[in-house]
Amino acid sequence: MSNRQILIDSLPTGALAEDHFRAEDGSMPEPGDGQALCQTLAISIDAGARAGLQGSASYAGAPRTGIVMNGSTVSRIVSSNDPAYKEGDLVSAPSGWQEYAAHDTRLLSPLPDIEDPAAYLGVLGGTGLTAYFGLFEIGKPKAGETLVVSAAAGAVGHLVGQMARIHGCRAVGIAGSDAKCDRLVSELGFDAAVNYREDNFRQMLKEACPEGIDVYFDNTGGDVLGTALFRMNENGRIVCCGVVSQYDTTNPAPGPRGVPGLLVNKRLTMQGFLVFDFLDQYEAARNVMLEWLEQGQLVAWQDQFDGLDSAPRAFVDLLAGGNTGKRIVRVAS
Ligand SMILES: NC(=O)c1ccc[n+]([C@@H]2O[C@H](COP(=O)([O-])OP(=O)(O)OC[C@H]3O[C@@H](n4cnc5c(N)ncnc54)[C@H](OP(=O)(O)O)[C@@H]3O)[C@@H](O)[C@H]2O)c1
Repeated sequence: MSNRQILIDSLPTGALAEDHFRAEDGSMPEPGDGQALCQTLAISIDAGARAGLQGSASYAGAPRTGIVMNGSTVSRIVSSNDPAYKEGDLVSAPSGWQEYAAHDTRLLSPLPDIEDPAAYLGVLGGTGLTAYFGLFEIGKPKAGETLVVSAAAGAVGHLVGQMARIHGCRAVGIAGSDAKCDRLVSELGFDAAVNYREDNFRQMLKEACPEGIDVYFDNTGGDVLGTALFRMNENGRIVCCGVVSQYDTTNPAPGPRGVPGLLVNKRLTMQGFLVFDFLDQYEAARNVMLEWLEQGQLVAWQDQFDGLDSAPRAFVDLLAGGNTGKRIVRVAS
């Protein structure tokens, strides 16, 4: 039996394309002592993985070719050499873009057998946890304040705006199409949403935030950050979550005007974070989000491609804004 894999064939020097990857049929991995063989059910497609290929994500190490493309997966145990895991168990795993992987079981996390375990790649996985900790631990919103989030119709963004609303804030989204903006307002209850691709984006953002911005959750960096920065209120907080506008290039633009001058004059805080910083609080945050989901206060959008070979297309298309909500690739049922 073979193991279908998608490898990094070459590193992009400009925009990422599907042919930076190649598919191969590798041999089936053999689990060693303390390891389990995992079958991939679904893969998380993450914008941040593009930063890994760029070499700008220091936590991911230097990018390399000839290796399986990385990515979190929801997987099922096929066989195990650790009595704590048995055949059929569902786990989250770091398998990347391949059908099977053998892992040390310390790298696995057991998952409950829910109807669609792929939720553990989205709202109940790293995506939802990023939204939760970035908003509440870094953004520190107060009821009545205005929160703005960029890449608002994306995996992290659509959850941030809803969580801010649950917390009693006014939530304004920034996204790349009118259709996405309409859905944020009509389906998720955002108070307003503006399209950053419009010529009058600055003016539209000003009108959408008549009382200024207290918390800006930045998924994009670049011009969108530059525009939001000038609308910040005194003592506002900027949550630096990611820089997706600068990933798909070898020449990221310099940071926005106004730093540090605006930070000084408006006493702004601008703070980055990585979701792993809050590892010891994951369980508690998941329980809160599960409750919001059950009560219908939080809605998780999922966006799906089918088949392992579609992963490169799913990734390239996500960087161009093709996704709405959390993008996954289903590999097996
Ligand atoms: N700090 C952490 O621990 C952590 C963890 C997970 C993710 N992140 C970060 O969170 C951000 C969102 O990640 P995600 O996985 O949820 O991706 P996502 O938002 O689902 O997808 C990326 C979105 O970015 C938008 N985009 C692409 N190019 C853009 C540009 N030039 N300007 C503005 N928007 C652009 C596109 O939407 P439009 O149609 O709106 O353009 C696209 O849908 C990323 O920056 C990622 O690195 C951080």
